[in-house]
Formats: sequence, structure tokens, C-alpha cells
Amino acid sequence: MYMQVQKKLFTLMQIGPITLKHRIVMPPMSRLRAQWPSGIPSDLMLEYYSQRASDGGLILTEATAISPSGRGYRGAPCLYRDEQVTGWKRITDAVHATGGYMFVQLWHAGRTTHVTVTGEQPVTASVDPTYWADPNIFVVTPDGFLQPSPHRALETAEIADIVGDYRATAINAKKAGFDGVEVMAANGHLIDQFLQDNSNKRTDRYGGSIENRTRLLIEVVEALIPGCGADRVGVRIAPSGTYNGMGDSNPRALFRYVAERLNVFGLAYLHVIEPRIKGADLVAEGQGPVAAQELSKIFQGPIIAAGGFEPDTAATVANGHASMIAFGRHFIANPDLPKRIELGLPLNHYDRSTCYAFDARGYTDYPAYEIHEAIKPALTEQRQAGPGGTAARRATPFYRFLASQSGANENG
Ligand SMILES: Cc1cc2nc3c(=O)[nH]c(=O)nc-3n(C[C@H](O)[C@H](O)[C@H](O)COP(=O)(O)O)c2cc1C
Repeated sequence: MYMQVQKKLFTLMQIGPITLKHRIVMPPMSRLRAQWPSGIPSDLMLEYYSQRASDGGLILTEATAISPSGRGYRGAPCLYRDEQVTGWKRITDAVHATGGYMFVQLWHAGRTTHVTVTGEQPVTASVDPTYWADPNIFVVTPDGFLQPSPHRALETAEIADIVGDYRATAINAKKAGFDGVEVMAANGHLIDQFLQDNSNKRTDRYGGSIENRTRLLIEVVEALIPGCGADRVGVRIAPSGTYNGMGDSNPRALFRYVAERLNVFGLAYLHVIEPRIKGADLVAEGQGPVAAQELSKIFQGPIIAAGGFEPDTAATVANGHASMIAFGRHFIANPDLPKRIELGLPLNHYDRSTCYAFDARGYTDYPAYEIHEAIKPALTEQRQAGPGGTAARRATPFYRFLASQSGANENG
């Protein structure tokens, strides 16, 4: 099975006008190393993303704020000012120089923030004091990890301004050299707060029915299209997601509707986080990729499946429920993840304790796999044998070397 999965992961993939050379996606992961308070991407971020770029691979940036009120955490980057655009351009240039592609995840955190990060009271769909009183929910502020600030509900008339911020940021994304944008509609941030009915109790045209709760997402997608083109817009959702205090009375109906409704646009992709993952924790041991299985029957474009995948269990790609697989924590720990998966190399382990060390530790210091000079000719031979996991490639001296050194080829 591993050979079949691996072979499929290294076939060409078309998203809009972009031809990817493999289907291993780096998903959005907030790492909080942007300059504070400017939100300008740092030199460290340039190094981090450059390390993870691969020829024909797709990187999705960490959540990137569309406006001051949309900021969620200290150290998360932004894309609404010219200096932020310039900062990102250095990074997209570096990724493109490797032959890679990069979409920016556009983000409004809604209530998942603190007044010391936004400079104003956080906004959301409906007021819920139990949210900011929940001792299990934290946001990163200039004063460390704190519970979110009390929020207020958006007035109906204010929502058009937020949609306008998305529209303006799509234009900035193009200026910054991004190949496309991803709408963050998952993990309990603003658009998810409108989608799910435990956080949306509104009685205007943005609340009540599923259609009304989906309205903000649809308006945002429509606002991004003029700046980017529909086939350069992706949407990320977390069906049945409970992270950040989320919940819905009928998640199946809601997210089936969302997938169906998005069909009209001809989007680049739908990015689906499996409910077995809550944030970055496995909460349903043994559960398969149920969201991708269900929504691939409804959504007519490419699907990226995320959440709890391993290189040897990414069968979802091989059996057609998804077109691409996102590997989150494995990408944190393995800057050269596509190469490691392609060659069946062992993976570095993810160290959760250094995830938010705020400097190079746990960020740019995970090593790439070192290939000894002596076996480089064999690797060249391996590469020339073409993509995929053919028996011929496995007969190369490179594979035989690996098998003898590390047992890395055992599953191959
Ligand atoms: C440190 C960290 C930060 C994350 N930040 C984001 C984010 O900014 N936006 C987002 O949509 N998901 C975010 N996620 C979720 C990941 O994109 C992914 O869905 C999750 O890690 C599950 O995939 P995995 O099991 O392959 O790690 C984050 C995850 C981690 C570990």
C-alpha cells in the first residue's frame, strides 16, 4: 500500500492555473515569529519557509491578519500595510526560486484574541460570556498566554467593512507575489464563528438558517475573486470541528451545504480538516478521514485533506477522497518532508515544547536529512528514474544504501 500511496503523492496535480509536482501540502501553521507590533514577516520566517519550499510543492502560510481588528496573536503576521506586503514578497520570491508555490491564509480571528493584540474590543457573531470565561482557551498576547478579552457582536452594517478588508487584502496578496489565497473558515475564527450555531445566535441575515450563517463566507469568497481569480482562491473548513469552543447542532447539514454552495465558484480547492483532530491534538483514535470521504462526494473541485495523516496512511489520496494531503506537525519537524516521503527516509519527531519558543529553537533548527557525498551519484540515478515508487527505483544503489544504513526502505 505504501508504494501505491507514495506513487500517487508524486503525480502532477492541477489547481487552477498551477501545476504542482507533488501532492504533499504544508498547511497553515501559526508560529508567531513575525515582528511585533508591525506584523512584518521576519528574517527568521524567510529562513523557515525557504527551508520548507520544494520544487512544485504548495505551501500555505500561517494565518495572516487582514486588518488590525482581525489580529489574533502576538507575533502573527499581517497583510494590510505596504511594509507587510514587502516583507512577504521576500518570502514568496524565495519559495518561487525553489520552484514552489505559496498561498496566503487570510484571517480574521474574531473573538479569538485579546484587546492588547487588536487595540480594540474583539468582535464576533454573537456575545457569549462563557467563551472568555473558559479557562481552557488561551491566546498569545504581548503579556504571554491569556484568556481572550470580552467581545462584542458586530452590527449588521459593520460586516461590509470586514468583507472590504478581505477584498483589499486579496490585492495585497497579489502584490506580495502569492500564487493564491486561502480563506480561514476553520478552527473557531471569525468566519467559523458565523458558520456554527453555538457561536452565532444572530437574528439578521447573517444568523439563523444555514444559508444565513454561510452568508459571510460566501461574501468573502466573492470579494476575493476580483483580486485573485476564483481558481486562485481556496477555502479551509473544519467540519464538526470543536477547537476554540466551537460546535453546531447539525454539523453534517451545515458543512454539506457549505461544500455544495462553494461549487458555483470554480475554486482552487476545498481544504478540509478531519474532526479526529482538535487544533493539533488527536481526539478520535482510529477514526478515518470521514470529512474528506463525505465532502469529496459533494465538492466538485480538488480537496486537500488535513489532520492526523502519516506518510504511510495517506491512502485517501490513492483512493480518491482527496487530491492532496496536508501534513502539519510533520512539516514543522521535517523541513525536507516531500523528499523524505519520496525516498522513504525516517522522519524527525515534532517537539511540542519548542513550538512557540519565539526564536529559532523548534523553528529553523530541525535538520534536513543529510545525504552523504558518497551516495549522491546514486541519488541522482534515483531521481532520473522519475517520480513515483517504481520497483526499478527501489533497486537503485541509493535505496540499497538506505536499507543498509537505516532500515528506512523497509516499508517501501
Ligand atoms: C503550531 C500549529 C499552528 C497552527 N496554526 C494554524 C493556522 O494558523 N491556521 C490553520 O488553519 N490551522 C493551523 N493549525 C492546524 C494545522 O494546519 C493542521 O490542521 C493540524 O496541525 C493537523 O494536521 P497534522 O495532524 O498533520 O499536524 C496549526 C497547527 C499547529 C500544530
